[in-house]
Amino acid sequence: MELNIKYLLEQFLVDPKIIDNIGYFDLLSLLTPTSLHPGGLDITAKTIDIANLKYGDKVLEIGCGTGTTTTTLSMVGLNITVIEKNLNLLNSTQSYCKKHCNNLPRFILGDVCEIDNFNLNYNEFDAILFECVIGFIKNKKDIINNVKKYLKPYGKIIICDMHYNTIPNNDILEKISYAVDWRFEVLYENDWLNLFNEYKKVYWEKFELVQSTITNINDIKNLLKFQYPEIDFNDYFCDKINEKMNSYKKLFNSNKLYCNGHIGIFS
Ligand SMILES: C[S@@+](CC[C@H](N)C(=O)[O-])C[C@H]1O[C@@H](n2cnc3c(N)ncnc32)[C@H](O)[C@@H]1O
Repeated sequence: MELNIKYLLEQFLVDPKIIDNIGYFDLLSLLTPTSLHPGGLDITAKTIDIANLKYGDKVLEIGCGTGTTTTTLSMVGLNITVIEKNLNLLNSTQSYCKKHCNNLPRFILGDVCEIDNFNLNYNEFDAILFECVIGFIKNKKDIINNVKKYLKPYGKIIICDMHYNTIPNNDILEKISYAVDWRFEVLYENDWLNLFNEYKKVYWEKFELVQSTITNINDIKNLLKFQYPEIDFNDYFCDKINEKMNSYKKLFNSNKLYCNGHIGIFS
């Protein structure tokens, strides 16, 4: 459902508990820009460098979140197409890009599982980027193999994600499933590598995950102000958003203790 900030503020006056029911992704769509994959933009920059992507290369980004990667890659001259299934996140990314990018990416609202319906050309892309998205796909291997035809010969699939080293307790998994409205499979490093066994492994690196910093009310005020400069947000609203955001951050931080991050490049 489309999340309209003015409507949310009105509803908040009637019942502040409305914030408690906002899912993680919809909440984030109010707080652009926030990077949602391990290592953030530093890891993206490193990966793009290792993948040797150059000015003008065509990149298909699956699942743009709040658009931090989309905007950055577009600003350095990559030609970006986005497929994103969450309308609120797609809207946030679009307005963020409009503020910063000379060459606007092409935006597709939809599920990568339906990529064949989006009128993309075969052999079109130099790279397809999945930053913390594959976990949200059911038939992972089928989709990973299906997108290959949209890559140029020698084009690359780039992933930045995390794998489990040990299984977290069920309570953490249940709460995460509820937050993102998705039940994750517990995938270990080998499971990830097996997903790509029809590709050539060009690069693979594991890294330690850093805990996300807990925000304070001023961080939230600044993020809201950045996205909605025309609106005056009261402290109570910002405080509630901050509380909700931090409850999600603590949950994801507890999950990270069981995981490592990884970068993978396959062609
Ligand atoms: C954890 S976020 C990562 C966002 C962004 N890539 C980043 O790293 O900041 C996952 C994103 O993928 C999107 N997504 C999940 N499943 C998808 C699918 N099947 N097709 C397209 N987008 C999807 C979600 O809506 C969300 O924006």
